[in-house]
Amino acid sequence: MSRIPDSFIQDLLARSDIVDIIGSRIELKRAGREYHALCPFHNEKSPSFTVSPNKQFFHCFGCGKHGTVIAFLMEYDRLPFPEAIEELARIAGVEVPREGGNTPNRAVLEGPLDALAGAERFFREQLRKSQPAIEYLKGRGITGETAKAFGIGFAPDSWDALAKFFGDPTHAMAAGLLKKSGDRVFDVFRNRIMFPIRDTRGRVIAFGGRTLANDPAKYLNSPETALFHKGRNLFGLYEARQSLKSTLPYLLVVEGYMDAVMLAQHGFRNVVATLGTATTRDHLNLMFKSTPRIVFCFDGDRAGRAAAWRALDQALPEIAEGREFRFMFLPDGKDPDELVQEIGADAFGNRVEQAISLADYLLDELKKQANPATLEGRAKFVTLAKPFLGKMREGPLRELITDEVAKLARMSRADFTIPAPKAVAPREPAAPTSQATLTLAKPVRDALRCLLEQPELAGGLADIEIVEDAGASGLEVLLAVARFLSEHGRVSAAQLIELWRDRPEAPIISRLAAEAVEPGQGDPSQILAEAWAHLRLQGQKARVARLLKASEQRSLSGSETAELQRLTQQLARR
Ligand code: UTP
Ligand code: MN
Repeated sequence: MSRIPDSFIQDLLARSDIVDIIGSRIELKRAGREYHALCPFHNEKSPSFTVSPNKQFFHCFGCGKHGTVIAFLMEYDRLPFPEAIEELARIAGVEVPREGGNTPNRAVLEGPLDALAGAERFFREQLRKSQPAIEYLKGRGITGETAKAFGIGFAPDSWDALAKFFGDPTHAMAAGLLKKSGDRVFDVFRNRIMFPIRDTRGRVIAFGGRTLANDPAKYLNSPETALFHKGRNLFGLYEARQSLKSTLPYLLVVEGYMDAVMLAQHGFRNVVATLGTATTRDHLNLMFKSTPRIVFCFDGDRAGRAAAWRALDQALPEIAEGREFRFMFLPDGKDPDELVQEIGADAFGNRVEQAISLADYLLDELKKQANPATLEGRAKFVTLAKPFLGKMREGPLRELITDEVAKLARMSRADFTIPAPKAVAPREPAAPTSQATLTLAKPVRDALRCLLEQPELAGGLADIEIVEDAGASGLEVLLAVARFLSEHGRVSAAQLIELWRDRPEAPIISRLAAEAVEPGQGDPSQILAEAWAHLRLQGQKARVARLLKASEQRSLSGSETAELQRLTQQLARR
């Protein structure tokens, strides 16, 4: 894959404003020089998420997440680095140049994305024109407003209506909208109500289509493509996040498109549907980016129970501090779409309230399989429980469930060994490592923080070559930053971090940028001057010691003697 030139990224950062971009996604409130918000990355009641326009940097004091606007887009929109750049460029209205020309990857994704966007328009237009399709949706109780909110459309009962709309079929074929048979190109979706499936940025990446005829395939989903993976995308997530810009109190997970749409129409905007597949761990992690609490909603029938049990299995390894899973079961034979229409939003909401916790669900199910009233039952109960406990990460919830299992089995907790969890790679990016918190000497730390706060101060730093000898921990980073800033003038902390993205300095700088120089701590130029003077003094002393040592072994050169004299005088004057 060809590289995005650094100069472009720097330019893009210079013309983007982190406040605008984050502010279009979550609600920001001005507070002095900064902006505050409820952190979108963890659940909280009072705002600890701050955005600094000056540094072009965000930081959450609660969960510790921090970074540039690019890091924000990667995390919030869940994008890989190059796509975060693409998104930033899109917002700025510029094209991303590539060193070595356009990548095939870009062509592979962009053409199909355009085709999908075109198809969405086409299907919506067709819905307006099709009386049977409109009647069908009306018959199912879907209002025009809801259809519009989800972009619902209609694929006409024709072999090639969409094919004709496109002309050149290349991209639409890659997007799974058209198929070739011999020389003929035909539509994949025919006579179906079309539900667009969007990525977290709102781009249509696939469709689900419900037949209006008695097609044995009641629903047809787009095939898996470079853009669309059933196990990694959720229907309705974009719409849920659009309607509630901050962290969602919870996400309701249902099985069907119609369920999600009908619940949304009844005010449950925070609803997603898995696309005819079981919930995956990727789904869970995707949802946890928007909410701390996931409520699974299953049919009460056997299939629903089985699906819930599979969901539990996926959920166990994802349990962590601040995350919660709940399970709700609907009366036999009813799906959420039917139930909410029958009992109304309030009664449905009460059922959501009564959803049981993962721990209760697990223990209840195990009790059904092994009756802890008998001795044999208790032994079996323990045997059954252990593998489930083994799937959980260590933590308070696992401890509590283990206590409960021991209690039910009337065993002492000490007799209980939980199998070590299989090494499951944590999906969350690791917390900043020790490298990032590398113990910087205090003056180095102070100086760096001030330079990140006010990069223009670098111009006033004298005697860099003397400070070089100070031998303080982290000095190389400070000097690299100081040199860079004095050569490049006004560069924001964010630009510096992104420019050095792959270098060891980046995480250190990023970590420090998160530590604002509080107004109470004094004036950055003052703090910097003091720190620099301290380092300079250390450098002078080290230099003098070195010259003296050399003089014991050999005679110093003229310039060395002069320097030694000068330094000793300077030190004596202090
Ligand atoms: P259901 O069979 O429960 O359908 O499938 P439904 O959602 O109640 O549909 P309506 O109410 O009859 O319109 C649940 C989900 O399973 C997937 C779809 O995602 C569907 O929404 N599914 C179902 C398929 O992918 N293919 C099928 O043939 C059927
Ligand atoms: Mn249904």
